[in-house]
Amino acid sequence: MTRHDLTGKVAVVTGGSKGLGLAMATGFAQAGADVVVSSRKLEACEKAAAGIRSLGRRCLPVSCHVGDWSQCDTLIERTLAEFGRIDVLVNNAGIAPVAPRLLEVTEPLFDKTIGVNLKGPLRLGARAAEHMGPGSAIINISSVASVRPIAYTAVYAAAKAGLNVLTAVMAQEFAPKGIRANGIICGTFWTDSFRSSIPSEEAAAAVAQGCVLKRVADADEIVGTALYLATDASSYTTGQMIQVDGGVLP
Ligand SMILES: NC(=O)c1ccc[n+]([C@@H]2O[C@H](COP(=O)([O-])OP(=O)(O)OC[C@H]3O[C@@H](n4cnc5c(N)ncnc54)[C@H](OP(=O)(O)O)[C@@H]3O)[C@@H](O)[C@H]2O)c1
Repeated sequence: MTRHDLTGKVAVVTGGSKGLGLAMATGFAQAGADVVVSSRKLEACEKAAAGIRSLGRRCLPVSCHVGDWSQCDTLIERTLAEFGRIDVLVNNAGIAPVAPRLLEVTEPLFDKTIGVNLKGPLRLGARAAEHMGPGSAIINISSVASVRPIAYTAVYAAAKAGLNVLTAVMAQEFAPKGIRANGIICGTFWTDSFRSSIPSEEAAAAVAQGCVLKRVADADEIVGTALYLATDASSYTTGQMIQVDGGVLP
């Protein structure tokens, strides 16, 4: 169990106010970490922070739109000012807007989707790594869409595929500093973004049939893999994308 321990460590989770981000932030706090919870809406971050503090850990809520590099820089600076260190960065914030076909992809949709899913993680990884020491970890949250794209989420799929590549680049560039970088390719989890994308219970049941476990995951089912990648339990693993998808069929 000590290899899954984060006591004395500081973890930054983007999109940490709800869904998978909140599940990971809570899991890290339960493993002993102090946590920075970040998303655009400060009030939502403050609510999440109150829950994490009730676990006996320190938690800093920070508003940050990850598509804006100056806000990314501020997130890193606020973390250092509060805690003096960064041990774990989870690039989790993401959006998945749909467009039925490529001609209906607008320039704002393209720029925003790439901005949140790819541009932000690059800047945050680069800035965080400046301050991370040996044993630190970056975790990029990707999607099955990045390896099994479907037309109506083309830009999202392309951005997440870019994030997979960025993970390999981060692993190479940061290895000399003892920083590992890995990613999680998520299947389908019950979160607000999934609920809002699915028109009916029947549609959700149809999605569940696409994996061998035949169900949609609860948000906290990402925590075990995130903890593994955040801690020394994965000390010889870097540049990898782990699929947590209920066994999506090839
Ligand atoms: N749920 C799934 O089935 C699934 C499947 C594959 C991949 N994923 C990936 O998992 C990650 C988390 O998804 P989720 O399902 O947990 O989503 P969610 O429940 O909708 O939560 C998204 C989080 O991201 C924040 N966020 C959105 N836009 C942001 C921005 N521009 N800057 C900073 N924060 C922003 C949101 O808070 P604010 O609104 O306050 O900003 C919220 O905290 C995403 O990267 C998603 O692509 C999820």
